[in-house]
Amino acid sequence: MRILGIESSCDDTGVAIFDTQKGLLANQTNHQTNTHRDLGGVVPELASREHVLHIMPLVTAALKEANISKNDINAIAYTQGPGLIGSLIVGCTTAKTLAYTLNIPAIGIHHLEGHLLAPMLEPEKPEFPLLGLLVSGGHSQLIQVNQLGDYHILGESLDDAAGEAFDKTARLLGLGYPGGPLVADLASKGRPRFNFPRPLAKQDNLNFSFSGLKTHVMTTINRLTENGNKELDLATKQDIAFAFEEAVIDSLLIKCKKAVSKTGIKTLVITGGVSANKKLRSVFSQAEGFRVFYPDLKFCTDNAAMIACAAAYRLLRGERDHYIDILPKARWPLHEII
Ligand code: KG4
Ligand code: ZN
Repeated sequence: MRILGIESSCDDTGVAIFDTQKGLLANQTNHQTNTHRDLGGVVPELASREHVLHIMPLVTAALKEANISKNDINAIAYTQGPGLIGSLIVGCTTAKTLAYTLNIPAIGIHHLEGHLLAPMLEPEKPEFPLLGLLVSGGHSQLIQVNQLGDYHILGESLDDAAGEAFDKTARLLGLGYPGGPLVADLASKGRPRFNFPRPLAKQDNLNFSFSGLKTHVMTTINRLTENGNKELDLATKQDIAFAFEEAVIDSLLIKCKKAVSKTGIKTLVITGGVSANKKLRSVFSQAEGFRVFYPDLKFCTDNAAMIACAAAYRLLRGERDHYIDILPKARWPLHEII
């Protein structure tokens, strides 16, 4: 079965083609970084317009990359939610129209399920049951995945998501958008000079909190610049980024270790934009007590390959949408799907 997947939940337009026998045949993405860079974050209305402009050219490019025609597609998958409602409507409507005109099934996929199953695109696939650490710009969750659709949220961030904390720290350090990779790059040149807290580390629950860390960055900067009266030198910025990144990763590791000991599950999957972080991968891969799987770097941030791949599991067990319902869901808790 060949599935054309569409992702448009936020600011990346993605179209991919996944073959259940041969694997991924095409993966096309348009990033809107330049559109939103100077505006301090994603502007929803601009994001929707960019999706409208790029989605059909990406479908054409994906078919070309896979060297197939639209009539060789057997199903269309799309991100149904959660996400920005205008952006979701573009992907949802495109998917349903394509499926209707080609007379093939369409299926809506939960964006976080897509992230969770992204490591299944790799040659070495993790087996269920597993623990999923989903760390993106909008979410930080620890999920017990018993099998497809059987998701139990063990813990989550009580405030900012990990990626959001990276993005806000980037802004405080005068870096651009998206901030995660820029903070990571700065941190890679830093030294262990500051000691940042590990929020909620001593609590027995599996929740996270990252907004205090961002505040810690702010108070550190204010102290060193005498409330903005002095400039921060590059080396100090690097050391602050180092301490921040280390604290985020350590906080995640502490709770993952707790989740392993509470559940007895020793397979850990780390996905979402923050899972592209090199230091995180190195720290988790050296930790003992569990085996860790990641998506390929290009499938950590939003992409359509993970949507098409997740759809394969659901289509193979006979699931599909009704044609004429166009029901994007801006809010959609993961534990509500089955
Ligand atoms: O999964 P994603 O593309 O979008 C959401 O669904 O949120 O994640 C984007 C987030 C952004 O906050 C970005 O700053 C962060 O992932 N990110 C990183 C890195 N690459 C992306 N954070 C830390 N280190 C990175 N290398
Ligand atoms: Zn995402």
